Amino acid sequence: MTTHPSPTQASGSSSPQESGQDPHRSLHSETGGLRGEHPGRSKDPLVKVAGLAWLEFEKPDLDRAERFGTDFGFTVADRTPETVLLRGRQAAAACLVVRRGPQARFVGPAFAAAAREDLDRLARGTGGTVTEHWGGHGVLLRDPSGFPVRVVHGVPDLAALPERAPLPLNFGSEPTRANATQRLARRPAEILKLGHVVLGTTRFQAALDWYLDTLGLIVSDFLYLDGQRDRGPAMAFIRCDLGSVPADHHTLAMALQPHTGYVHSAYELTDLDEVAASGEYLRERGYKHAWGLGRHIQGSQIFDYWRDPDKVMFEHYTDGDVFDCTMQPGWAPLSRSGLSQWGPKATAEFTGTNDPRVAVAAIKALRDKGNEVDLRALRGLIKAMSS
Ligand SMILES: [Fe+2]
Repeated sequence: MTTHPSPTQASGSSSPQESGQDPHRSLHSETGGLRGEHPGRSKDPLVKVAGLAWLEFEKPDLDRAERFGTDFGFTVADRTPETVLLRGRQAAAACLVVRRGPQARFVGPAFAAAAREDLDRLARGTGGTVTEHWGGHGVLLRDPSGFPVRVVHGVPDLAALPERAPLPLNFGSEPTRANATQRLARRPAEILKLGHVVLGTTRFQAALDWYLDTLGLIVSDFLYLDGQRDRGPAMAFIRCDLGSVPADHHTLAMALQPHTGYVHSAYELTDLDEVAASGEYLRERGYKHAWGLGRHIQGSQIFDYWRDPDKVMFEHYTDGDVFDCTMQPGWAPLSRSGLSQWGPKATAEFTGTNDPRVAVAAIKALRDKGNEVDLRALRGLIKAMSS
């Protein structure tokens, strides 16, 4: 289990203060954890997964899902009457699996195991079974929020597709583009890869510890409810532990919410112009914009958020942070204004506060036993989304 020693114990070393090191040496945030707070990583995880492999959805209309997918920037990897597989341009398995289903819904994520033996460890540790899956193997787990979580190994990568080179930019006294113009076609994005998924849950602490203990993920940043730091974090940005190899700032982000469900997933593009120009294309095609352009604080990505015809939110991003395993979690209060360092204020369309189902979910969550939603937490969440 993840225990809560002093934050610095998490890395197995003495505290930076005790050893005379700069306390901010491995900290990207203004504030780190306090003694006794959640360390953001497990001392002895079952395995350490290597990445997020794909996301699984169900949709009633696969033609519409395929149309949005290609407009958003995916390439169709395969299509059958019952399934659409959408991919990015980097060598990887298809990152979006869309099956025909009665209603639009997120099913669950699939993570990539670093080694075949890790699937056996997971099966032994969780009571699961390793089965053959898409040319490789997989084990199906269930997280404390109730999401089915697949962990796979050996599923063959699709060959890489050509990528546009980053635009040459002229910087002040160092122009790189003499006698040449900058003209980017307004067309669908070229998605490079799946970056992360964000999930809301009524059982945040339990789910957080499960991902750290079971899959070996580690926390890049914690957000807490302002004035309620004593109750621990209410949101976590979580990355893969690849040792000295830098990993995306977050592969999974989770937040305490009145209802458990998918929030959004994010896909990496080459550069800022790709994000902006492909957004113009989506706007011309009549898709609903949710929030952007802006630059996040936690993860630093330049972002733009869109909703598909089923109101499912998808993010284009570029220029995100990558951290190796030495970086310790930052701590900051959750607030609407703190979601970006520049760009328009986060919209109600993005935060979901304009959704009447949220109030209904909040009342239900307060009545239900066995979750972490109480009146104090709800007050903290309402305050955060209005600040
Ligand atoms: Fe995101």
